[in-house]
Order: sequence, then structure tokens, then C-alpha cells
Amino acid sequence: MSDVRRIALVGLPGSGKSTIAPLVANGLGWSAVDIDGEIASSYGRSPAAIIAADGERHFRDLELTELENALRRPGPLVIACGGGLVSQPAARRLLGELCTVVWLDAPDQVLIDRVGDGVERPMLGGSAAAGIPRLRGSRKRAHQESHLRVSTVGAPDAVAARVVAALGGAVRVDLVERTYHVEVRAGALDDVVLHVPAGATRVALLADRAVSSISDRIVASLRSSGIGTTVLEVAGGESLKTWTTAGRMLARLGTAGLQRNDCVIALGGGTVGDLAGFVAATYLRGIAWLNVPTTLLAMVDSAIGGKTGVNLSRGKNLAGAIWQPRAVICDPDVLATQDDRSFRSAFAEIVKYSMIVDTTLATQLDSQLERLLRRETDALTGTVRECCAIKARIVSGDEREAGGRAVLNYGHTIGHALEAAAGFGDQLLHGEAVAVGMRAAGLLSIRRLGCPEGDIGWQDEMIARCGLPTTLVFDPERVLGHMRADKKTVGDRLGWVLLEARGRPRTGQHVPEDEVLGALDAVLAR
Ligand SMILES: NC(=O)c1ccc[n+]([C@@H]2O[C@H](COP(=O)([O-])OP(=O)(O)OC[C@H]3O[C@@H](n4cnc5c(N)ncnc54)[C@H](O)[C@@H]3O)[C@@H](O)[C@H]2O)c1
Repeated sequence: MSDVRRIALVGLPGSGKSTIAPLVANGLGWSAVDIDGEIASSYGRSPAAIIAADGERHFRDLELTELENALRRPGPLVIACGGGLVSQPAARRLLGELCTVVWLDAPDQVLIDRVGDGVERPMLGGSAAAGIPRLRGSRKRAHQESHLRVSTVGAPDAVAARVVAALGGAVRVDLVERTYHVEVRAGALDDVVLHVPAGATRVALLADRAVSSISDRIVASLRSSGIGTTVLEVAGGESLKTWTTAGRMLARLGTAGLQRNDCVIALGGGTVGDLAGFVAATYLRGIAWLNVPTTLLAMVDSAIGGKTGVNLSRGKNLAGAIWQPRAVICDPDVLATQDDRSFRSAFAEIVKYSMIVDTTLATQLDSQLERLLRRETDALTGTVRECCAIKARIVSGDEREAGGRAVLNYGHTIGHALEAAAGFGDQLLHGEAVAVGMRAAGLLSIRRLGCPEGDIGWQDEMIARCGLPTTLVFDPERVLGHMRADKKTVGDRLGWVLLEARGRPRTGQHVPEDEVLGALDAVLAR
């Protein structure tokens, strides 16, 4: 993970790249660079003059060199790209890997009116009216690869403010094939439309009916942008995550006429996200999806990382796919209506991050817990953003759980067995099971790896302060039975995550059964 440090503005002639880049930079306190401007000052001639004298190929080489120079500059930067830069595969690769690419767009007629006779724009071939639609066609695919599409109809200050709001505090998830962004801010719901892939003409909004007023707001903004929208309303909760519901949703995407370029949007808690992501992963062998989480657990954990799936009768999440969303949009204000028990259950994952990585999160929890529990927007924004950044960093290093991602399972070995023993219903929430699982893993960490007792003491105290259970009533032998069954399902991979100290996890730890029973005895009441 890296926070956004390079924003590249791309778009057709007249879209406002050179005007808007310094405004965005100003709004963020960054520097701006204009690739065409740099070429003109380095070579003492305008791009048009260079193309007229030395040809387009030569100019494209200069453009690529200037982009490479810009990307070598230290400090965060907004780059106004020349319109034709995206026609070069090498430039597109650099932009995609190193920048957050924003496509500034406006209808053809607006662009034609803005460029006038277009004499200083040789790629228009002397006629803006003919040149703009032609360039739109030839650069369409390149523009559609952008991370965000922002309309530049309107005052430049307002357009720049929109880019600043969307990307100012965004977290970047860097994966092998592509990068996506996690927006975390009050009001981010209004940005959902910016993240819809540019080629999509139709969207299926798979929405939890518990948040139907939010769903209405998103539908209105999609439709006003000309995107056909079908709402598939569902009841959130674990019983949603079935093979049968997934099949029904797939059939409804077909009926709604979604095609390969179209997009699914998940709006709801972790159960809606897991189902919608799985449906997007399998429909037409995989279409784009956005995740708009509406519970704290989904914001801090499940929305990031691309694990999607449904439950089978044998256990949780046993059918699924790793299918990354195009973007994750977290608006902490939507948490106002979440019920207290499920809101608090998410703190188990927040405490978990505080234990497995060296982070300022523990200090945030110590000083702001009351404000977080009162759901104050700025406290929630900071904490959700920090959790997203931690998860993004871990997932970026190990997208398919070949190694490092396993640290996220701290507290989950017993947690999953407790959920199985409880029958995967609402009787025991995931976070509640993980809280007790972490207490047991903490004890084992002290006993087996010499973890300082003070570190585990902090964890246990924080679990209690968050209002999470510290003990549960279960028969330890029964829980152990579920752990054995889990081991059979996942093969030899049931290794424990234990801690040498807070922030120093060790994965793949073997723990003899008698010691597991000892730890279970300490956290379970019969
Ligand atoms: N994919 C992953 O990496 C991952 C990670 C952790 C957990 N999960 C999964 O996440 C699921 C749990 O997610 P969850 O805790 O969000 O549960 P959930 O989706 O069941 O939501 C909890 C309840 O809150 C309601 N709700 C949602 N948003 C609301 C809002 N803003 N206001 C009022 N009510 C609202 C829902 O209808 C539901 O009744 C589990 O299935 C778990 O397996 C997945």
C-alpha cells in the first residue's frame, strides 16, 4: 500500500488538464507539472511547432522522456498529461503502475466549443468538430483504463475540488495486475459514480434493504449520469451467503442485460459484499464491481482484499473467488444506523490490527475509544482509514494468501471454530468469536513465544472496553472438534498466528492439542 502520491490527469483536447492540475495541486498542497509546458520550455518550441518540424513520433519520444522525468521528482505531484500521451503503451504502463489516473471528460460539443479553431492542436487535423470525435474513438480504451472519471462540465475550481475530495485521503491498494483506491470520508457516497468503469452503461446495485435510503441516493446519482441502474434488494445477514442466492442474483444480472463492460455495486455489510463480489466474479467469467460497505466490520476488514464467496453446508466461505473490486468507497456517516452490537463487534478486527502490526492504531484506540463508540465522524474516519491502510499493505504484499496475508488470521483459528460451534447464525457474531479467539491466542503467545504479558494485557483490556465478550459458554472439547474438522478442510495449513510481542506476529505455529485445550479452558465457561 502507498497513499496516493501521483495523480495524472488525462483527457481529450479542451478537457482542462492544464487548468485543473495546478488547482488540484493547490488543494492538496502538492506540486504540479504540465508535460506539454515542460517540453515547450526545454526545447523552446510549442508541441505544435515540434510536431510540424520533426514529426509526431519524435514528439511522442520527448513526451515519454518528460513523463519519466516528472515521475522521478521527489514529493507528491499532479501531472497534466498531453492528450496523446495515453496513446503510447509505455506511457500507459507507467501511468497505471505509478499514478492514480483521472480521466477529465466532457461531451464532444463542450470540448469542440472550448478548443475553438484548434490551430495549436495538430492532432485535431484542422477541424475540432471532426477531430474530437475521432480522437475520442481512438483513445477510448486508454481513457477507460483510468481509475476515476470526472466530468469537467462546470467551473474549474469545482472540478478540482471534486478530485481533491475523492483522492486527498484515499488509500491505494497495489496489486500485481492493477491498482485500486479506497476512499474514506464523510460524503464519499456522492463519489460512487466517479468510480464506475468508464465503459459501463449499466449497473446492478446489490443493496441491503437496511440501507434503502442510501441506495436511493446512489441510484439517483447513477441515473443522472446516464447509467442504467437495476436495484437487487436483499436482506443482509449470514443467511444471504448461499449458493442458491448467488444463482438467483446471477440470473437477475442476465435479465437486467448486464454485459462484459458493465458493473456490479455492493451496498451493505460484509455479507452483501461477499455475495456481490462472488456474483461479479462469476457472471460472464468476471465483470467489474465496486464495494460500498455500510458496516464498520466491512469498512475496516471485509471490503478490502478481494475475498468473495458464499457458505456451503460444510462450512463458511467454502465456495468463492479472489476478485478485487475496482474501488472501495467508505462513508463513515452511514454507520449512524448500524445496531450497537454489530458495530462493536468490528472492534475485534481493529484490536487485531493493533496487535499484528506496528501501528499508531493502538494509541488511537487508547485516546479515542469513547469518541469512536459514540460514532463521531472524524474519529471514525481516521481509524477506518488506518485500518484500510494496514489491510491494503498486507494484501498488496500477498494477494492470494501465499504467505504474509496469514497474519490477518490472528485470533481466527479459535474464532472460526467458535462460529462453527454456534452454527454460523446471529447468536455469535464474527467479531465476538474473534475477540475470544484473540484472548486464547494471546495466552498461547505468552506461553509459547514469551510475548510480554503487558502486551496481551493491553489487548484483553481493550476487548473488554470495546464491550466485546471476554468469555463464552462452550464446551472446549466441542470447539476443539471443530478445529480438527477445519484442519481436514484446509489440509496442513491450520497453523497458528501467535505473537512474539505486539506488532511482531509469527505465522504457521504448531500448538499441541493439550495446550490448545488449556487456552480454551481459560476463555470458555461451561
Ligand atoms: N471477504 C472478507 O475478507 C471478509 C472478512 C471478514 C468478514 N467477512 C464476512 O463479513 C460478514 C459479516 O459482515 P457484517 O458484520 O458487515 O455483517 P452483515 O452484512 O450481516 O451486516 C450486519 C447487519 O447490519 C445490517 N446493516 C448493514 N448496514 C447497515 C447500516 N448502515 N445501518 C443499519 N443496518 C445495517 C445488515 O442488514 C445486517 O443485518 C461475514 O459473512 C464474514 O464472513 C468477509
